[in-house]
Amino acid sequence: MSTPSLEAVAQAMVAPGKGILAADESTGTIEKRLKSIQVENTEDNRRAYRDMLFTAKGLGQYISGVILYDETLRQKGITGTPFVETLQKNGILPGIKVDAGAKDLVLCPGEQVTEGLDNLPKRCAEYVKLGAKFAKWRAVINIGKDIPSVACITANAHALARYAAICQATGLVPIVEPEVIMDTDHTIERCEEVTEWALNAVYDALYSQRVVLEGTVLKPSMVISGKGCPRQAPVAEVAERTVRVLKRTVPGAVAGIVFLSGGQSDELATAHLNEMNKTYAGKLPWPVSFSYGRALQAPSLKAWKGATANVAAGQTALLHRSRMNSLACAGKYTAETERQVLAA
Ligand code: 13P
Repeated sequence: MSTPSLEAVAQAMVAPGKGILAADESTGTIEKRLKSIQVENTEDNRRAYRDMLFTAKGLGQYISGVILYDETLRQKGITGTPFVETLQKNGILPGIKVDAGAKDLVLCPGEQVTEGLDNLPKRCAEYVKLGAKFAKWRAVINIGKDIPSVACITANAHALARYAAICQATGLVPIVEPEVIMDTDHTIERCEEVTEWALNAVYDALYSQRVVLEGTVLKPSMVISGKGCPRQAPVAEVAERTVRVLKRTVPGAVAGIVFLSGGQSDELATAHLNEMNKTYAGKLPWPVSFSYGRALQAPSLKAWKGATANVAAGQTALLHRSRMNSLACAGKYTAETERQVLAA
């Protein structure tokens, strides 16, 4: 059997009505999630949690791919079946986070640059052997007084482009993720300005590094008011500003756009995605979908609580959020559909 092209994999990742589940929390980050339900961060508990998510029957109807962390890509589920195999059987593409995290950017207080380029070709080649079809690299852009700086924007864009080129050379579709952080008190206007700048820098760098855009997927943050901003922009405004920035900066050749949720509530993240696809239907050059972490997992995590007896409840919650976001990909999500929870 011939290997599907990067373009074919990228298109499958954004197939109509499908999005990506980000389950690639590092061991440190998953600790925070497990702590919130009073579950200890052990390898067995991480396995049990991911097992609950990945064995949800029918998940492949809404989810095209799952981003995994190194440990999970190599791990077996509760029944002894490797997670990669479980996902493949469900018609879901396994993906892998390959960055080594955002680290302080020297000489630029309050800013970060993502590391992980060392040995990346070798690591990517191993991940391909382990069954990964796509990869993720997250850059972090903070908004604050006098930041982001040119140094931060260009360093992160360059690293993203080098990563994307290495992925393509080794046979992985790169998810390019420049995240403008929403945790501060910036206005939506400032978020729009910074997002436009960051995306322009990213596409400039991708071009310089000879990345083939048809074999990439963009994972941006939405243009949104900072969490602490007194004026929280309404859904229609978030959709309008986000679409405007994306149309200005993202070439039509890009296979698709999948948003991160970035700390939005699960239902708001769905409503924003829905509004873009509803209001701008037929006017967007790329499929616009989701690659949520928290906004897909939070209700499931809460329902599961670490207990075997709650596995079905956790899966029902995950399937529900996945279905709601699948509807949002077609602009067909409503308060009515939100109330229709189907059993797993
Ligand atoms: P959130 O949707 O929780 O922001 O996570 C998505 C992700 O993969 C961040 O890198």
